[in-house]
Parts: sequence; structure tokens; C-alpha cells
Amino acid sequence: MSLVIKASSEIQQQNSECLVVPVMTGGKLSPTAQQLDQVCGNAISSLIKRGDITGNIGETLALHHLTGIKAQRVLLIGSAKGKDLSKADFSKWTKTLLEQLTALKVKDAYIAIKELSVADQTTHWLIEQLAIEAELNRYQYNTTVSKPNPAPALKKLTLDSQANKAARLAAERGQAIGEGMNAARELGNLPGNICTPSYLAKQAKALGRKNPKLTVSIVEEKKMRELGMGALLSVTAGTDQAAKLIVMEYKGAAKTKRPHVLVGKGVTFDSGGISLKPGARMDEMKYDMCGAASVLGTMTTLMQLQPKVNIVAIIGAVENMPSGNATKPGDVVTSMSGQTIEVLNTDAEGRLVLCDALTYAERFKPQSLIDIATLTGACVVALGSHATGLYSNQDDFAEELLAAGETIGDRAWHMPLWDEYQPQLNSNFADIGNIGGPEGGSITAACFLSRFTKKQRWAHMDIAGTAWKSGTSKGATGRPVALLSQYLLSKSDKK
Ligand code: BES
Ligand code: MN
Ligand code: ZN
Repeated sequence: MSLVIKASSEIQQQNSECLVVPVMTGGKLSPTAQQLDQVCGNAISSLIKRGDITGNIGETLALHHLTGIKAQRVLLIGSAKGKDLSKADFSKWTKTLLEQLTALKVKDAYIAIKELSVADQTTHWLIEQLAIEAELNRYQYNTTVSKPNPAPALKKLTLDSQANKAARLAAERGQAIGEGMNAARELGNLPGNICTPSYLAKQAKALGRKNPKLTVSIVEEKKMRELGMGALLSVTAGTDQAAKLIVMEYKGAAKTKRPHVLVGKGVTFDSGGISLKPGARMDEMKYDMCGAASVLGTMTTLMQLQPKVNIVAIIGAVENMPSGNATKPGDVVTSMSGQTIEVLNTDAEGRLVLCDALTYAERFKPQSLIDIATLTGACVVALGSHATGLYSNQDDFAEELLAAGETIGDRAWHMPLWDEYQPQLNSNFADIGNIGGPEGGSITAACFLSRFTKKQRWAHMDIAGTAWKSGTSKGATGRPVALLSQYLLSKSDKK
């Protein structure tokens, strides 16, 4: 998508397939709409008088063949009061706009964005959000269909706004975030027979080859055994797919600077193992690698923006299957940390993968450590699909991540990680059990992980509800790439 920022006063002279102009509540014309209305002999105001559009968010009206205007058409767009919109309204506005432009099959559009504002946000914020949504709008899943959908027509957006460095940077950041989200969506949507642990490793390697500052290495199973990763290895015991611990190291700042570390759950298919899941919707467990996908997506975004920060991104990639070799309920395994774990339920596998990956992360002496995982169905029950479940052993870290999500429109909610929940993980036969019973399932999963990150500035994101949508428009969302990118970009040294 090409995004051009250009301040202009002569909208009637714009040579575009579609001019997008706001109409406010009560049919009030924005200044640009007024200007056009005069040029085209009041064609716009007469339509409004007839009540064809009232100005509410979600409304649009496409006008063709207006006289005195160079552009092929004008798209009136309901914009409520225009100024000081809520973030939710602006998000709806943007989605409506992109849906309509897509339906009209226009290749390029000119948007009078300067006539809108969002409460407490700069114009640059609006530009960034629009850039993200425009990228997301371009994504289609085609990889495993024999007749691919035609590519979306929309190729260029011109935003009528003051062109300066900050505006261009906002557009660039938004585009990079959108592209990273789309990369994550594609990985999430790929079926489990294509997107295997080896496939994820290949994708990471490919990203490394394109970026001189990114080194990618793979810890193979043999090495995992030497390292004592008994927890991760217990998950892969039942599958024929080789597990991979993918390690990406990005050096954007001085060598001496400690890195920020991401750890993604990459269970490329979660059957539940011997604690087999029910059949209904089991297909959706191909999405159980969305934590890994969000890590790769975030790295895709950051490689475009090259922030001055050091980052290590780790992915624990495994498939969870039942077989004669599979781990059984009641088996006790020893994690890399030395803590023994009673595997009471082989379907609580994500935490087994993550605990060893988190212990492995210690060697990088992280400034901050974040794991991202489709960890529990309980999180979906608690928060639904709008908020990511956020846990941290340091409240100020949680606040920082919440704020990043709030800013970029990829929200999380702070959940309790109180000591009172910890005894639910007690085991009679090991240091810890891998499940905490029916109460507070997302919380006890986080408590489990906290046993392996005591020395770290650590946060855990349960994205089971936010990483994909079920139903007819089933698919991966690319969350929380935006939140992670926003956080890591804020850690970049000033240029
Ligand atoms: N990958 C699932 C979590 C999940 C479930 C994500 C539904 C999205 C939708 C995870 O590995 C799992 O199976 N968790 C169990 C834990 C339980 C056995 C303690 C769960 O949530 O049921
Ligand atoms: Mn599971
Ligand atoms: Zn899982």
C-alpha cells in the first residue's frame, strides 16, 4: 500500500478515483464537503436535505459524475461530530471507510483526514491507525485454495494532512505494524500440516537472511536434551515432527545493552495429547502457535523500522500429539530449571513448553521478558475476545504494557498473580503440578510460569481469546503484534 501525506486546499482539483469527505451529524458538511458542494452546484447538500446520509458513524454515500470535480467519485462518510471522536468511533469510521473503498474497487483514494480528530490524540496517531487498518484490509488468505481471490484493488491512499517527518514516520510505523500483523495472520491461518515446527524455523531463518542485524539459530532436540529441557521435550514425545527452539537475536543498539526478550508459544497443533481434546472445533488448535506467530510478526515489523534496541525473540515450536511414546497423565518430568513437574493433564502443554523456553531466556540477561501464548480456554471465558490477559510479577511493567496496548489500539487487561493462587499447583509427587484445577484457570497457568521467572522483569500475555476469531469469518487477527511493537519501539534509543 502506498500512503502519501499531502496538505492541499484545492480538493476539486485532486486527480483521484475517489474523494473521501466527512459529513457530520445532522448533515453538517465539513469544510471540504462545503467546498465541493459549491463547485458541483449543491449536489451534496441537496442529497443531505433529502436525508440520504445523516452523518452517523458507519454511514457512507458514494456520488458519481459530479460536475466541476476532477475525481471520478466522492464518498461521503458519516463522521459524527468530526472533532474529538472516541477511539472506538474512529476505529469504526476507519473500518467503514476501508470496507466501502474495497467494495467500490477503487485503486486510489484521497481522504480529507484533517477534518477529523480523536480526543487526546494527535493527527499522527490517526495516520498511524489508518495505515495499520489499510494494511490489514489488504490481507487475504490464499495459500491453500486452488482459486485465489483477486488481489484487492486499493493500492494508494492520499491523506490530506500536514506533510512532515513525524507524519511520514507515523505512516511508516503503521504500515510496518500492519505488515507484521499480516505476517502473523498468515502463519496462524496456515494448516498444521504445513505450519509445522520446522516450517516456523524456516520462516525465522528467512527473516534472518534478509536482515544483517538479525541472527537466527535453532536449538534442536539433541541439544534440548543436553540442556535438560524435560518439560518441553515431554510435549513433543508423541509426535513425529521435530521440535525446534527458535532463537532470533537482533542487535540494534550497543552490544553491552541488555536485550528485551520475547518468548512465543508455538504449538503448531494441539490435540491435547493423551488428555485428548473433544472433536468439535479441534481444527482451531492449529492456531495454538499464535504466540509464536506474534513474535515473528513483531520481528517482521521491527526489521522494517530498525529500532535502536537489542531484542531476543524465542519460539518454542512443538506439536502436541498422542501416541505410544506420548507423555501420560501422572508422568513426572524435570524442567531445565531443575524443578520437577507432575503432568496431570497433557493438554496443559503450553506452560510446559514455555517454562523451559523462559529458563533458556535467562542466559540473555533480559531487561524485560515477555511470553505470549494461546494458553488457556479459561482466559477466553474471563475476557472474551477483546482483551488479552496480562500478568506480571512487577506492577509497573504491567502498567507499561497496558499503556502501550491502549495507545496502539491492541488492548490488554491486568489480571491478578497473587500468591494465594499458588497452592492450587501443589503436587503430591513433584515440585509442582501442571494444572491448578477448575478455578481461575488462566491465573493458575500464569502462576505456573511465574515459578520459572522469579528473577526476571517478566510479563505473560494470554492471547487465547484475542489471537483469532471463530465463526464464519474465522481467522487469525495478528494480535498482539501492535502492542509488542509499540512497547519495543518505545525502548529504542533516541536517534
Ligand atoms: N491451547 C490450549 C488453550 C486454548 C483453549 C486456547 C481454547 C484457545 C481456545 C491449551 O493448551 C489448553 O489446552 N489448555 C487447557 C488447560 C487445562 C487442561 C488446564 C484448557 O484451557 O482447557
Ligand atoms: Mn492444550
Ligand atoms: Zn495449547
